[in-house]
Amino acid sequence: MVVTAEDRKNCSVHLSDDELAVEILDQTQLPNRQVYLKLTQAKEIYDAIKVLAVRGAPAIGICAGYAMYVLALSKKDMSAADFAKSMHEDGEYLISSRPTAVNLSWAVKRMLALVDANADKDVAELIGMLHDESIAIHDEDIMMCYRIAEYGLSLVKDGDGILTHCNAGPLATSKYGTALGPIFLGKERGVDLHVFSDETRPLLQGARLTSYELQKGGVDVTLICDNMASIVMKNGWVQACFVGCDRIAANGDFANKIGTSGVAILAKHYGIPFYTLGPRSTIDMNCPTGDDIKIEQRDPDEIKNMWYQEPMALKEVKCYNPAFDVTDHELLTAIITDKGIVYPPFDVNLKKIMEED
Ligand code: MRU
Repeated sequence: MVVTAEDRKNCSVHLSDDELAVEILDQTQLPNRQVYLKLTQAKEIYDAIKVLAVRGAPAIGICAGYAMYVLALSKKDMSAADFAKSMHEDGEYLISSRPTAVNLSWAVKRMLALVDANADKDVAELIGMLHDESIAIHDEDIMMCYRIAEYGLSLVKDGDGILTHCNAGPLATSKYGTALGPIFLGKERGVDLHVFSDETRPLLQGARLTSYELQKGGVDVTLICDNMASIVMKNGWVQACFVGCDRIAANGDFANKIGTSGVAILAKHYGIPFYTLGPRSTIDMNCPTGDDIKIEQRDPDEIKNMWYQEPMALKEVKCYNPAFDVTDHELLTAIITDKGIVYPPFDVNLKKIMEED
């Protein structure tokens, strides 16, 4: 597969035509409106990540790569030393917008490593290198999603039912997506899969984004509430679960959208294989286990008020609103990466694929 400028342009995050802004499809407005935003300031980019206008671990990473390039443009008249200092400050600021998905800090650190390794170059030349690096991050993600889709497709057959949680499709990544990659690739190749999409409370990524992009892509999709996963599994309608991931620890525990671990427990009960799909940029070998993953806490309003005409709980009621949970590696059948399908023991086998080129 060869990545083209058109492939990049069709992604939910890309560089604007004049290459002066990060352009994103505002995911908070889907499925009702397709609104693109052009972002040039650090605060705008921080806010877009925070409110989930751009979301999904790989898409946040791609956005961060482009953001570092776009922010560098405004520093073109600085001395090399001031440029590097200011880039590090912006990078730290962007990383603080969301803590759980490792792809954000991974992409920022990759851009900063380039700055540090080329401290002797003049700023204009360095900005050119940052431009190319941000494109490389995006192109690699497109390629990785394609490979993940190939590996994932090898595990299912025509007519299978797949249950997914949250959104790990093209909107959250690039081109094929991760968890939805095998489904879109299958569609291209005449392998028809039926998808059950959990609506994914409280922010409804499954309803607003997954069922939207599958329906638009001509895939047979049924939207269910999160508490209906058990009955569709019990009915024998699900042959595999495919979910995304925000950070995979070295032992195979992984963080993904809140509710994922419940799906994994159900799948184990019903004897259904449960897979997480993600690029190697989501594997954090510096994070020994799921206990070391920082879980983002979000505004109680997302539970009490959002989507409703009137609040659905008393103002004074306490809420617990973690954005992610950690699925224990013992519940995982395999991790599907761009470098192949990783089976237990995950601590040994993740180390092996991370050491490959
Ligand atoms: O809070 P979100 O919507 O960014 O959460 C997204 C998920 O949990 C996805 O499953 C994950 O980022 C993988 S996207 C390929």
